[in-house]
Amino acid sequence: MSVKVTSGVLAGIDGLMVDVEVDMHGGVGHFDIVGLPEASVRESRVRVTSALRQLGHRITSRWITVNLAPADLRKTGSLYDLPIAVGVLACMDEIPTRSTDGKMFVGELSLDGELRPVPGVLPMAAAAIKAGIGEILVPVENAREAAVVSGIRTVAIRDLTSLIRYLAGDLSIEPTVSSPPDTTHIQMPDLADVRGQAHVKRALEIAAAGRHNLLMIGPPGCGKTMLARRIVSILPPMTYGESLETSRIYSVAGLLRHRGGLVTDRPFRTPHHRASSASIVGGGPNPRPGEVSLAHNGVLFMDELPEWKREVLEVLRQPLEERVVTISRVRYGLSFPADFLLIAAMNPCRCGYLGDSRHECSCTTTEIARYRSRVSGPLLDRIDLQVEVSPVPFRELSAATGRGTSGEAAERVLAAAKIQADRFKGSAVLFNGRMDSPGVRRNCAVPPEAETLLEHSMDRLGLSARALDRILKVARTIADLDLCERIRTEHVAEAIQYRMLDRLKGQFPQAFPA
Ligand SMILES: Nc1ncnc2c1ncn2[C@@H]1O[C@H](COP(=O)(O)OP(=O)(O)O)[C@@H](O)[C@H]1O
Ligand SMILES: [Mg+2]
Repeated sequence: MSVKVTSGVLAGIDGLMVDVEVDMHGGVGHFDIVGLPEASVRESRVRVTSALRQLGHRITSRWITVNLAPADLRKTGSLYDLPIAVGVLACMDEIPTRSTDGKMFVGELSLDGELRPVPGVLPMAAAAIKAGIGEILVPVENAREAAVVSGIRTVAIRDLTSLIRYLAGDLSIEPTVSSPPDTTHIQMPDLADVRGQAHVKRALEIAAAGRHNLLMIGPPGCGKTMLARRIVSILPPMTYGESLETSRIYSVAGLLRHRGGLVTDRPFRTPHHRASSASIVGGGPNPRPGEVSLAHNGVLFMDELPEWKREVLEVLRQPLEERVVTISRVRYGLSFPADFLLIAAMNPCRCGYLGDSRHECSCTTTEIARYRSRVSGPLLDRIDLQVEVSPVPFRELSAATGRGTSGEAAERVLAAAKIQADRFKGSAVLFNGRMDSPGVRRNCAVPPEAETLLEHSMDRLGLSARALDRILKVARTIADLDLCERIRTEHVAEAIQYRMLDRLKGQFPQAFPA
């Protein structure tokens, strides 16, 4: 007897259909899984055998072959436990024939037949709809993420016993409906908590408005981390499309069920500087999205930038440039979206106190140079805003609250985003920070007076042509925040202020090897 049960497979953040064909007859004990299964899939034999034994079915004396089609797609994970068990049960007439038609099955089994959650249920549900499948049966813990996808019935299954009763029509299970988490009551940290630091708040606003990557440079304890955390409070709310796309990534990473089935707030990821490149960009034998993808449509915060491993900074270049991570495999390649805003922080030198009026810096010029050179040029090249953060004087720190709330800043950011949406209508670029050189030429004309100012600064700071482009992009965003169609000289003058490293280079040329 042979039976076909529908399941899925992941390719990046997309789901594809898989047919689980189970062939069973009596006789010698044999249980084989074919169709490019990795070791994790072959382990299904053990769990399925044990789970069925709990129901009183001994399958050790049967000849069972499972084929996962198409055979040219590599299958990993424990999600085939459920469709294999269903196939075996159907072969034994424990489940009515045809009761599995038009249904997709994914889930891991415990040895006693309970269902356990698996990653990637959201994209698989989305793929099922495209294939004309009307119902997806998933472990209870995955039900909310499958239910986010409209147009398919999500049935949450607790264990094999209830599944059999459900398929036989002896048990009715209400389909799960999507109920995204209500986060409205959660108080996000607000910019008003930060005393002083007006120019850093301004830089955060510019970063959020034009999606310019930002580097904060300042001594320990001056509020860099505190400021960075508050940027999500001024970014525009996620659109449904953004929310769904980020949710797919979290689903594949196995993190969506902890997020109530849908990511509705922009992610703020804070990986540690000792993180490996695999954990940052993703990959591994069972490809998982890395931190840059978990930050998709949100923020990646890299603290202590010079402490990061060189190889990690190196692999960051692709996502920063292309907003996607591609993972190559021998047989196929796959990609994860990775469109994030980078906020980085660093001390100005190894001891941290260079330029701090309250402490003596104990670093030698060589030490400063070595410290700085760890942040590679190519990475700095992708950071439009560099700001100095100085400790706030005690007088200001003891004030009741800081000036400027996140709400006010968010309104200005939203207005600037609308202007950019009009400007870039029909193009792949949506924000000033993402313009290429021709885009800068087209959109960033400046008055003659500003030309003179730029020329003067280039000479004084030794700015490259690329640095000039970055100043112009930032000036464009400042003008947008000002609701000005034309960039004015004052906008350019402000943009030049956000080149802290270039100014330091002027002050300490020895510290910056060419
Ligand atoms: N401008 C500020 N306004 C209010 N609190 C501040 C400010 N700067 C620093 N702090 C306090 O000091 C703590 C340390 O700041 P933190 O952001 O961790 O500094 P850094 O990341 O620069 O080392 C914060 O948690 C906050 O309590
Ligand atoms: Mg910090």
